[in-house]
Parts: sequence; C-alpha cells; structure tokens
Amino acid sequence: MRENPDYNDIYYQNTTNYSQIIDIVTERVIPLSDLAAPIDWEGFFGNAHPVEIEIGFGKGRFLLETSKRHPKVNYVGVERAQKYVGLTRERFEKYMQHFGVDKTSGTFSNVRLAWADANYFLTRYVPAASVQAYHIYFPDPWPKKRQRKRRIFRNQDFLSALAETLKSDVGRLYIATDYETYFWEIQERLSQVSALRPIEENLSPDRDITTNFEMKYTSEGREIYRAVYEKFSS
Ligand SMILES: C[S@@+](CC[C@H](N)C(=O)[O-])C[C@H]1O[C@@H](n2cnc3c(N)ncnc32)[C@H](O)[C@@H]1O
Repeated sequence: MRENPDYNDIYYQNTTNYSQIIDIVTERVIPLSDLAAPIDWEGFFGNAHPVEIEIGFGKGRFLLETSKRHPKVNYVGVERAQKYVGLTRERFEKYMQHFGVDKTSGTFSNVRLAWADANYFLTRYVPAASVQAYHIYFPDPWPKKRQRKRRIFRNQDFLSALAETLKSDVGRLYIATDYETYFWEIQERLSQVSALRPIEENLSPDRDITTNFEMKYTSEGREIYRAVYEKFSS
C-alpha cells in the first residue's frame, strides 16, 4: 500500500475532504479520517463474513438487491458523487419504510456506503487479500479523447490495488459496460495485471440483478459487454 499515491484523478481532492462511511440502518456517519487504515473488516462489521465491494454504485439498485439476497456477505459501496450517495440512502430508506423493515432485524446491517474516491479508498483503507469480489458496473467511459485519461481502469494505482486486495483463488472482479471500445481497453489493461486472469464463465451469480444503467441501456437495445476475472496465487 502506497503512502502517497500519485493520483491523476481530478476529483480526488474534492471528494476526499468529505470522505465518510455511512451505515444505512443506524444512519451513523464516520469520517474516513477517523478510521484506522486499513480497515479491520471483522471489527468494522462485527462478524467474519466475506466482504464484497461495489465501485461506483450510482443509484444503488444492485447494492440493495444483492445485499438483501446475501445477508451473510458484507457489502461496501464506494461512490464519489454526493448526489448518488444521497439517492442511494433514500432508496434503502424507502425500501425499509415500504416493506416495514424493522431496523433491529439485521436486514441491511451488512451494508456500508463509502462516499469516497475509489482510488483513495482502495489504496488506503482496504486490507490486502481481504475482498471476495469487486463489482464494477458501467464505469464512466469518458468518451472524449482529452478526457480518457480519467478512465478508472487507466489508473495504475487502482489496478494494483484491485489485484492486491482481492483474496487469492476465490477473489473475483465482475465488470460490465455498454461501451465496446472501453471494454477492449479494460481487458487489455487487465491482461497486464499478472495476478488476475479472465475466467471462462463470465456469468455472475447475481447476473439477474440489474443496475440502473443496465436497465436503461437494455431497454434501448444496447449490447452489454461483461467480463469476470479471478485472482490466483502466483
Ligand atoms: C456510469 S455510472 C454507473 C452507476 C451504476 N454502477 C450503474 O450501473 O447504474 C458510474 C458511477 O461511478 C461513479 N464513479 C466514477 N468514478 C469513481 C471513482 N473514482 N470513485 C468512486 N465512484 C466513481 C460515478 O459517480 C457514477 O455514479
């Protein structure tokens, strides 16, 4: 883990000033700077369940559905846009109200929202070999040529952190995008990461859970490109 990663992400400074972790059930908010880094997941969640991280959860549809389906998996959603963090909190809140979820029942106690830049969060707060899966769905493609350097899969610190923090042999990285040329670039860049290899079976067990972008693009008839990588012990 690098002490001072050399970020090329333009939002890095803005988002990290306010970075925080939110427990959507208790509504407890902890400034990231108050947490010891790296985070001890077991102490943090109060159990030893596996941890999965969704990067760029947007409006939170996948995070809600998957965390409901797998109560014995701990989920951390990382999102740098305050607006989407707010909308996702509302989504969970509305769901709990609508279905009369008792806040002491344990439902959604396996979810935390990190309002933070993913590069910052992964390189500082996520312990090595501690993550069962990363979910990265519809990462911003930054289609304009001069903006492509902002693509998250171009950030070497980010790629290294993915590989370092996944658990060997079981750790998986799930990716989906509608943007074909970015898809090929992602695969090209991941082929340079020696600890990760693509696996044939490119269906996630939660493939049927769609993200907000996926719903939109599928209804427009766009093709969706998917890949799954696994970390193996070298
Ligand atoms: C195109 S949206 C996709 C949202 C969601 N995954 C979906 O499929 O509906 C990309 C999301 O990633 C977030 N994002 C982009 N770069 C990020 C970063 N470096 N750290 C955290 N979130 C990021 C954006 O704010 C945005 O919400």
